Amino acid sequence: MSSERRPMTLHRLRAMHADGEKIAMLTCYDASFARLLDDAGVDVLLVGDSIGMVLQGHDSTVPVSIDEMAYHTQCVARANRFAWIIGDLPFGSYHASADQAVRGAVRLMQSGAHMVKLEGGGWTAEIVRLLVERGIPVCAHLGLTPQSVHALGGYRVQGRDEVAAKTLRMHARELAEAGASMLVLELMPSALGRELARSLPIPVIGIGAGAGCSGQVLVLHDMLGITRGKLPRFVRNFMEGASSIEDAVRRYVAAVKDGSFPDDAVHAY
Ligand code: KIV
Repeated sequence: MSSERRPMTLHRLRAMHADGEKIAMLTCYDASFARLLDDAGVDVLLVGDSIGMVLQGHDSTVPVSIDEMAYHTQCVARANRFAWIIGDLPFGSYHASADQAVRGAVRLMQSGAHMVKLEGGGWTAEIVRLLVERGIPVCAHLGLTPQSVHALGGYRVQGRDEVAAKTLRMHARELAEAGASMLVLELMPSALGRELARSLPIPVIGIGAGAGCSGQVLVLHDMLGITRGKLPRFVRNFMEGASSIEDAVRRYVAAVKDGSFPDDAVHAY
């Protein structure tokens, strides 16, 4: 088989999940980093609404607008060559109506996203179905869903008790049945992350959800040691021991692929 890099596709991401080949994802918000991350072999670039905290200095993702997400998606898409690009639908861009959700998703796809991401389970399944029927691939996001941080009472681990775990299982199944083709799991016990990755037919990407997921995502500025203050336990600073930013990103990709990151003894709940 040729080792030449080809543009990532949904079909390949699904095959990676089925074959147990780990998927390396990072957040990315601009053209310079998009090119660097793509060159370093990152499979998926997430233009996350974490721009609210990372770039804009807010204390949550809640203030981020669809205009801002479209702008950053365009910046990333211009420089990217091979990676799969996910554009995050921000808070308030799919909550009011199905029509609003379609308009927001179209906006991000026309900005260069290959897929859109939305947070939450239950009511979102219908929106996922609607977008998928219109040819828009969707990544769902369960567990700690930062857009709902005020309703959740802070950035805390989700699905710890059996009732909460049961609800998460149900939401994950419903989203996959509605046509979501990827699922991000954030901040939950590693046993639950592993169970969902094993039971679902779609790639399950973890951030603080343990080593058993089909792949991992981190916020770029966290894994490069740029973010100040106390970081969650699931973050590793890949700049430690690296000779450059590109080297750190290559180390991240290698560690996700060979299963050495995350280490459930250190990074899991
Ligand atoms: O916006 C973001 O960066 C995210 C990740 C934390 C998964 O949604």
